[in-house]
Order: sequence, then C-alpha cells, then structure tokens
Amino acid sequence: MFSTAFLDIPALAGASGTVRLPGSKSISNRVLLLAALASGTTTVHDLLDSDDTRVMLDALRALGCGIDAAGSTLRITGIGGQLKPGGPMLPLFLGNAGTAMRPLTAALSLLGGEFELSGVPRMHERPIGDLVDALTQLGCRIDYLGNPGYPPLRIRPVDHGALVLDAPIRVRGDVSSQFLTALLLALPLAARKDIVIEVVGELISKPYIEITLNLLARFGIAVQREGWERFTIPAGSRYSSPGDIHVEADASSASYFIALGAIATGASGQDSIRIEGVGADSIQGDIRFIEAARQMGAQVDSGPNWLDVRRGAWPLKAIDLDANHIPDAAMTLAVMALYADGPSTLRNIASWRVKETDRIDAMANELRKLGATVDSGPDFIRVHPLERPGWQAASIRTYDDHRVAMCFSLAAFNPAGLPVRILEPHCVAKTFPDYFETLFSVAQAPEVPVICIDGPTASGKGTLAAEVARLLGYHYLDSGSLYRVTGLAMRRAGLSAEPQHEAQIAALAAALPLHFTEGKVLLAGEDVSDEIRTEAAGMDASRVSTLPAVRAALLALQQRFRQLPGLVADGRDMGTVIFPDAALKVFLTASAAQRAERRHKQLISKGISTTLDSLRSDLEARDARDSSRSVAPLKPAQDARHLDNSQLSIEQSIDQVLNWWQEKQPFKPA
Ligand code: C5P
Repeated sequence: MFSTAFLDIPALAGASGTVRLPGSKSISNRVLLLAALASGTTTVHDLLDSDDTRVMLDALRALGCGIDAAGSTLRITGIGGQLKPGGPMLPLFLGNAGTAMRPLTAALSLLGGEFELSGVPRMHERPIGDLVDALTQLGCRIDYLGNPGYPPLRIRPVDHGALVLDAPIRVRGDVSSQFLTALLLALPLAARKDIVIEVVGELISKPYIEITLNLLARFGIAVQREGWERFTIPAGSRYSSPGDIHVEADASSASYFIALGAIATGASGQDSIRIEGVGADSIQGDIRFIEAARQMGAQVDSGPNWLDVRRGAWPLKAIDLDANHIPDAAMTLAVMALYADGPSTLRNIASWRVKETDRIDAMANELRKLGATVDSGPDFIRVHPLERPGWQAASIRTYDDHRVAMCFSLAAFNPAGLPVRILEPHCVAKTFPDYFETLFSVAQAPEVPVICIDGPTASGKGTLAAEVARLLGYHYLDSGSLYRVTGLAMRRAGLSAEPQHEAQIAALAAALPLHFTEGKVLLAGEDVSDEIRTEAAGMDASRVSTLPAVRAALLALQQRFRQLPGLVADGRDMGTVIFPDAALKVFLTASAAQRAERRHKQLISKGISTTLDSLRSDLEARDARDSSRSVAPLKPAQDARHLDNSQLSIEQSIDQVLNWWQEKQPFKPA
C-alpha cells in the first residue's frame, strides 16, 4: 500500500494482463455480521481485508465472537443471536464504514446491551436518522450524542417483550438503502411473529438490497418481498450458518479495471484485461457497470468468476444514464467520460452527496482541475470530454474517499502524456489496499521516471536514496548490493575476481536468484543482508565491479528495477550507463573529513573501534582509486546536480532533492 503524502502516476499508454481483485466490501461486512449473529462457526473465504472490514471485525470481537484468521480464510464463531448478559457499556469505533455503522446500529439495539457507536468526523456527518426513527418506532432506545440524526449514538438495552411488532415498521428508502439493509439484517433477532417493513419513498440502490436478501437466504432467512415496498421477515426466522461461504471479488473495484480495458488495451484487439474473482452473474449490483461500459464501447466477455475486457469503440461513446442502480461504480463512468465523443450525463445520483464525501462536488472539482468542463446539480453530473490540448497536469484531492483516488488514476491515460498526482493515496485502503500496485502490474508507461543518486563512498547516498524512494512511493535500487551479492556468489562458487574467471562470474551475475523484500536481500531464498555488508564483502564487490563482463551482465538486471510508479537508483554508473535518460541525477559529495566523522560514529555505534585519521586516509585513498579506475570510474554524469551535504542534515539533503524533483513536475498546486 502507498502510505506516501502523494503518488505521482506517470503518463500511461497501455494495459494488458490479469488482475485478481479483493473481496466485495458489501458482501464481506454483511457476511461477517450474519456469521456473528448465527450460532456455530462460519468459514469465510476470500474476505476483503480493508479498513471497513477491520472495524467490523473489531466490533464483532468486542461483542464476544470468536475470530480466527488464516491467510485468505477467516473462521468466525457467532453469538447465536444472544449477548452474554450483564456486560459493561461497550464503546465501538467504526471509522468511516457505513456498512458497519448502519447494520450494527440495528443489530445492537435489538441485542440488549449498552453501546456507544462512533466514527471519524465524516461518519458523524453521514445521516442515520431515518434508521434510528424506524428502530425507535419498534421500541428501541437510541440517543444521539452529537447532532440529532447523525452518529455518534448511544444504544440502551430493551426488553424484547416490549417491542412493537404488530404494525409495519416504516423506513425511508430514498436517502440510503443501507437503512433498509440494516433492518433486514437485524430484525430476525426479534422475529417472534412476522415482521413487516414498509419502505417510504422510492427505494434507491435496489441492487444492494438484493445482496442483502441473497445473503440472508444463505443464512437461512427467507424474506418475502412485495415489489420494493414491503418486506416480511417470517415468524421464527433464525440465522443458521451455511458452514462455508465464499466472498466474490468486489464488483465496484472491478469497475476500474473494466474501464482500464475499455480505455487502454489499444485498438489492436490483441490485448485485454482479465479480471478474476467476479463474473457477469455476480450477485453484486455494481456488476451492471458492465452494461454501462458496453454502452460506452467496451467489449466485455464473461465466464464463471471472470471477466475479459478490451477496447471497442474509440473514442468512447458518450452516455446519458440513470445511474441510480450503480451509484458507486458510476463514479468510474465520470472519468471515462473524459475519453468520450461528447458530453456524458449521469442522473439520479443524489446519494453521491452522502457518501464518504460529497461525491458530486468532489468529482466536479477534480475533473475541472484536469481541464474538463463539468456541470452538476443536486442529483446529476455532466462531464465534457477533453481534447489533447485541453488536458492539464493536476494534483487530485481525494477527500478521504477511496473511489475518488481509484477512478482518477484512469486520467493517467490522457493523450497529452501528462502525469497525474493523487494526494493521500492511502485512502484506497478502505476497500482496496493494493489498488495502485494492481494497476501498475498491468499498466504500461512510455517512460517510468528515474532519479539517480551517486557519490563517493560514505557520502550518505544510500540513506538519501532510500528515503527519497520511500517518500515518493518509488522502488529503490541499491546497485552496490548487486555487486556485493555477485561477490558473495563468486566466493561461494570458489572463484576469485581474476580475468580468467570473468566469464564465469558474469554468468553467475546474469542469473542471480536474487530477491529484495522488506529491506532484506535474499539469495536463493537465503537472507544474506548481513553477510554482504561486511568489509570483506565490500572488497569483493569492489573487485568484481571492475570486470567489464560482470558490469554488462548486471545491466539488464538493474534496468528491470525501473517499474511503475518510479525508481530511485543509487550507485556508480546509474546516471551515466544504466539510466542515462534519468529525469534527475544527483551527485552527492561531502568533504573527506565529514565523511570520515560520519563513518566513525557509525562504526563506534556498532562497537567497532578505529581512529578518525585512519578512516580519513582510507577514504581519500579509496576516492582516488575510485575516480581513476578505468572501468566505471567515480565521476558525476554531465547533467548531474551537485549536492555537497557536508553542512547539511539528512533531512535538508532530502528536502533539496525533493525540491529539485518537484521543479521537474508539471503539477499545479492542489
Ligand atoms: O555502494 P556499495 O558500497 O555497496 O558498493 C560496493 C562496491 O560496488 C563499491 O565499492 C563499488 O566499487 C561497486 N559499485 C559499482 N557500481 C555500482 C555500485 C557499486 O562499481 N553501481
């Protein structure tokens, strides 16, 4: 996951390959609650692991459910519809998860304990009054702790005998379908007799109610439905665990990859995006995004649990759509509209205004930053397409809304070749923590940005490069470690850095079974991080690095590190030989005296004793050798920017490099 302040997505030009998507949020949180209310153990496969499911799991654990996770499988032992009596008041924090807040409010107000439900500030602006009103008609006791109609809430126990079940329970259906979902999921707890729910106003987002009914049926509860106005939970309904249940991949998450196929698989018809984990027969309403994507020109094939998408019409065809049935996925259409042959209008989307953020305003603001003309009103948005000269490089605000972040990544396919900056990209964690990694695994960029950092030994280039990479969310290549591992492999093969072994060492280097994970260097699966850091390993590295065939063998390996969204590479010939087209090259220097002092501190902290003087003369000798050696001598690339960090803190050096990088970027301020 990207935990950086922003993520720069370079201009993208194509996409093809296979993606596996995380589990559906809507299914995951409903299944978790149903399994928690049922008796017995339910094994849930392919559950979504995200912020929203985590807050639900934390809440269920607090209620006394047994939860046992192993890989992509989770076993949950329910409370059988009953809380242990006499527990203390439970405070439950539900983040910004509407799929946890609404159903838990309903379930907890019938379970009999005392609870306080709260969330992030935005959650306290998301309406819940209609649900609370419905539950209050029934006799539940719920108080607002902040603004009336909104969380946080205080729930008090109620005697089931006192619940008013004779009259139909009336709930509004035109603000959020989650109110009805919450009642449907929770009311079986009180089904001593038939319970009737009547929907007031036109029910929105009906497909989400279908998911609810489908999953209730899987847990043994057969709700009877008359149109979309009247629902009856039969007397004696009890949750019974299906034993095992599979969570489909998230159809809303699939929308970004369906759009990707429609936009970016090129006109050749050869490439496609294959999506695994969800097919056109999904129980999720957002799967009907496929119809809208087809209308815009996408070619979509489907089979059991898979979709295959390629570009059809290009430019895409403009669309005028009542998107009430696919409120979440429709945001993706708003970005696809930039690539259409005329203005596209999405109607009947008032619910966008009460989601993670006011999504109509958010989409309109950010689309305008890209250069688009956008009209919007209380319940619609109209987006005009962008011609090549109209596109602007924009810093996209994401409003703590995962979907804004995900759908704007598609703007990176703009024909103007401009990058897109996504601010606070970690908000995708709500439903799809690895969204950007997944996108990058199938997207192609004409030019993946590279920053090269070189400099003499002990100049601090490794620390600087790793930190710059971390702050930008870029990959990091420590090229020295490749020479160090090659030296180690040479030694283990009983070879030495002599010209007669050059070809053999080069062959070893070309096929190094090398992996970098979590700061560790693995050679054929063995952690060699410490072994390659010894002085002796450094000497070996230095020797093998003077063999031209070894350098040539490592060339392609190093270039393979150039992957989306970008790379920071540190080492000798990064800016001259490996990535001569790097957008920024930094040559880091510091006086020998300074470097000797830093190294001295480092060694002392490791308990190794040396003297400053000897260190300094060693460094000077090594500088002289490094600069005068015939193979890959230490010398700055012609277009390198020099940074003497003798008097700078590490933070100051990082700031300087980031400022230089910023100067290269076309983004206007957010
Ligand atoms: O940076 P580090 O000390 O790990 O590098 C080990 C040795 O590998 C250096 O002494 C240098 O001679 C060599 N090297 C190189 N080219 C690179 C990186 C390191 O020749 N790109």
